[in-house]
Amino acid sequence: MLDQTRLPHESVWISCQSAEDVAQAIERMQVRGAPAIAIAAAYGVVLAAQEAAAAGDAGFDAQVMAAIRRLSATRPTAVNLFQAMQRLQAVLTEAESRAPADIAARLAAEADAMAAEDIGVNRRIGDLGARLFSSPARVLTHCNTGSLATVAYGTALGVIRSLHRDGKLLHVWVDETRPFLQGARLTAYELLADGIPFTLITDNMAAHFMRQGQVDAVVVGADRIAANGDTANKIGTYGLAVLCRHHGIPFYVAAPSTTFDLTIPSGDHIPIEERSEREVTHVLGHPLAPPGVRAAHPAFDVTPADLITAIITEQGVVERPDAARVAAVLRSSEGA
Ligand code: MRU
Repeated sequence: MLDQTRLPHESVWISCQSAEDVAQAIERMQVRGAPAIAIAAAYGVVLAAQEAAAAGDAGFDAQVMAAIRRLSATRPTAVNLFQAMQRLQAVLTEAESRAPADIAARLAAEADAMAAEDIGVNRRIGDLGARLFSSPARVLTHCNTGSLATVAYGTALGVIRSLHRDGKLLHVWVDETRPFLQGARLTAYELLADGIPFTLITDNMAAHFMRQGQVDAVVVGADRIAANGDTANKIGTYGLAVLCRHHGIPFYVAAPSTTFDLTIPSGDHIPIEERSEREVTHVLGHPLAPPGVRAAHPAFDVTPADLITAIITEQGVVERPDAARVAAVLRSSEGA
């Protein structure tokens, strides 16, 4: 995998040989972004299965289950990870052949299927999202939701890519996204590569440009969406939604249906990852604050559904989300 902690200045590829390697890469954020975490973890399970099958030990199922548990313990907020692990666990328990090599092959096929699905899902989100724009727009985005955060194309960045393709994108405002700088390092890297016009801003500049009338819409991704539409995404997202309400700017969330957690009624139940203080007190390894300063680092915040104009999924657009509208869009695509 391309080590995202080294981008944009160095392109360093890391090789993961075991589920533990993948788990550590996720914890260090060498791979990050909800769908990318899920797919990387799925291949981590495949590595564990192949290793156990090759060793020929009894206890194949137990070793695969241990890998699923280890990978599930890496990052708590993005639900896509847990959905992927459940899907692989179902393959493990339901496989007709109990031969380890056969089950390992079935797990690999399932991981490949998930990866392929993600690309199609993102293109559909991009296209449905672009249809919401009737005229060329200046769009602000937060964090990184592009090819680096998914298998390809991206979610919120997929909408931006589709708008650009359709000639409906005037400009992108890219929030730098403190403290991990996914915007400055990763979104800027992707937009530059695609030749999409953008300006990098620090997170505290968004209100200024909105007040000046220079932002027509905000499009962000999501890590977990509760049944009522409350949405957890990168820290700073909630503030943008509040600003949008004040300035009368549409606030869109773009996410695959695997980002919904219909087992929880509201965002109050979403576990928020608390990351290391050092990621706040230091930038790219350099100390900012005096030694010994304490810092807080919630990695995500929750935006209440009533601040969201629409949630764009591959299954349809949930306008003015609430529990009934979320259920209607997700249900309407069942069996489609
Ligand atoms: O901590 P990160 O970098 O994994 O957080 C990523 C985000 O918050 C993204 O907006 C979200 O995962 C959607 S990615 C398509």
